[in-house]
Amino acid sequence: MNTATFADLSPQRLHALLTQSPKAELHVHIEGTLEPELIFALAQRNGVTLPYADVEALRRAYAFTDLQSFLDLYYAGCDVLRTEQDFFDLAWAYFERAARDHVVRAEPFFDPQSHTARGIGFEVFMPAFIHAAQRAQDELGLSVGWILSVLRHLPEDDALHTLDAAMPWMDHLIGLGLDSSERGNPPEKFARVFARAGQLGLHRVAHAGEEGPPEYVRSALDVLGAQRIDHGVRASEDAELMQRLAREQTPLTVCPLSNVRLCVVPDLAQHNLPQLLAAGLKVTVNSDDPAYFGGYVNDNLTQLFAVQPALGAPQAYALLRNSLEASFAADADKALWLAQLDAQWQGAGRAA
Ligand code: ADE
Ligand code: ZN
Repeated sequence: MNTATFADLSPQRLHALLTQSPKAELHVHIEGTLEPELIFALAQRNGVTLPYADVEALRRAYAFTDLQSFLDLYYAGCDVLRTEQDFFDLAWAYFERAARDHVVRAEPFFDPQSHTARGIGFEVFMPAFIHAAQRAQDELGLSVGWILSVLRHLPEDDALHTLDAAMPWMDHLIGLGLDSSERGNPPEKFARVFARAGQLGLHRVAHAGEEGPPEYVRSALDVLGAQRIDHGVRASEDAELMQRLAREQTPLTVCPLSNVRLCVVPDLAQHNLPQLLAAGLKVTVNSDDPAYFGGYVNDNLTQLFAVQPALGAPQAYALLRNSLEASFAADADKALWLAQLDAQWQGAGRAA
């Protein structure tokens, strides 16, 4: 596609293309889609008392100073998730919301350890996730691949036990991820569990370079065999790493609103995504924990484009295309979505 022909698309056309084009969401934590309204509804359903008077009071507590201040609330929020129905309602609400943003492929993370630690096992949440994904495919045309993510603040043995517990559900998983408190928990702590995931034929991804240094991105690649880097924005501090990421076309799943809310960057206007894209990295835009950070994937795209003069139609097309290409979906599915994307943009070019 010759994106030069889109140079003079009106802002309105560009907004429509950004929001209505088919896209993949590759970095979203299903527990991070738990909206305050659903937290209150599930608390009532399950007889859980919350330390907040109402939804507004809970929302007011979402004033984070760093990753840990968010994680403390995020794990506390999980406590209302008790039954298979709760997990189904959570996942289905996200899939309906994602489909409205024209997401055709979602690869959500789930954090088993934040549930198993409360006595809620795979036999509770996995049937719910499988059922919701099947219904998303059937009713919304949304393709889903689940990624089991292990918590890096816990010991590696805990992660290995979690992977063992997932064995009966392996056919429904596409990958292994690594999340939670980054600083002080380098990727190499999880070398064995990622090696095991590789043997099982799982894809491997890892959060790195969000709060942690560029070295964590390098060890996620070299020690864990990560095929995508979740966040990775701090790679821009290391010229050699930037060249490597561009050369190897390792996708970065960047989450602009998350980076602002967790004080990784001062504001959206100063986000380094345009710089990463201009350096030739395979950048994608994602929502991370949309219920906590003020927006789903289209909000991330439109708010970023509204304040970044360096982002126009060629960058929009590249980000959308990258999201589909960087997914772990079947090649035939990807080819279909990419053709749909191009058809939409060619039509727009003629109409402009
Ligand atoms: N878990 C949920 N969201 C996360 C993030 N942005 N970074 C690390 N762990 C997370
Ligand atoms: Zn994340």
